[in-house]
Amino acid sequence: MRLYSLSKHRFKGLIRKFIPSTVRDKIQNSVPIKFEVHHASPDTWTANHLPKFFVDAPEFSETFAHIDEQTRKTAKMGAHPLWEGYEGLKDYPAATTASSRDAQQVSTKQKTGRFFSWLVNSLKPKEIVEIGGAYGVSGMYWCAGLKANGTGNFTSFEPNEVWGKIAEANIQSVLERGRLVTGPFEENQDKAPSEIDLAFIDAIHTPEFVEPQLNLVLERANPGALIVLDDIEFSKPMLDYWKDLRKDPRFAAAFELTSRVGVLELAKHH
Ligand SMILES: C[S@@+](CC[C@H](N)C(=O)[O-])C[C@H]1O[C@@H](n2cnc3c(N)ncnc32)[C@H](O)[C@@H]1O
Repeated sequence: MRLYSLSKHRFKGLIRKFIPSTVRDKIQNSVPIKFEVHHASPDTWTANHLPKFFVDAPEFSETFAHIDEQTRKTAKMGAHPLWEGYEGLKDYPAATTASSRDAQQVSTKQKTGRFFSWLVNSLKPKEIVEIGGAYGVSGMYWCAGLKANGTGNFTSFEPNEVWGKIAEANIQSVLERGRLVTGPFEENQDKAPSEIDLAFIDAIHTPEFVEPQLNLVLERANPGALIVLDDIEFSKPMLDYWKDLRKDPRFAAAFELTSRVGVLELAKHH
């Protein structure tokens, strides 16, 4: 089993390195979204609402067309340097020194993004926090959900000033009140809402960074809050950490989305 997962991650690393991201996107978009529910108590949002997920709700069609267009335009702006916090990361399965990435390489894909919009429309969160705004693509999908709800706030944290400016424009093109805080989440707690109903942790995908970020989110999370983690299979340590989290009794439900996104539902009494 250990050998299998090691070679699986090496294989994934090779795919990342040698298959152009445009081709990877096409492959990913042709695979339907699949959910794997690890556990869900009967009174949770996960047990009661997840089975009702449907793709392409008509109320989103105009906003989704706008997001597709913004995403295309943003990708065309080309690659910009990574935030300096990526320099010298240990045991990181991708080159980060003097590296640049474009929006297509780092952003949430269309299918997952549309799931995010539906999720917001179903959960009706008052406060959404995003850690890792990048170029604002996932932010546009979270905001599309809030726009459809007609209520709720969105705060995204992004330390890369160049990426953050682009992200802010994208987010506000969907929801004027959407906020982008320039700086790492950990150092800008005064700018985070005092209560959180939905958090998206999508920054540096190693347990060393994700665990403290999750703990900070939990300090403010309301009972029943959803915590969405991207790239749970980024590396073997990250996958092991996710496997521990989904068994953690603080969460009344845990599920995975196409082996990439993990969702935890905070218990009503934690
Ligand atoms: C994978 S990208 C995010 C993609 C974005 N959520 C999307 O789907 O469109 C990761 C981002 O996290 C940012 N980041 C890294 N460490 C961070 C931290 N401590 N707080 C907030 N953002 C961070 C990086 O600069 C980078 O832009």
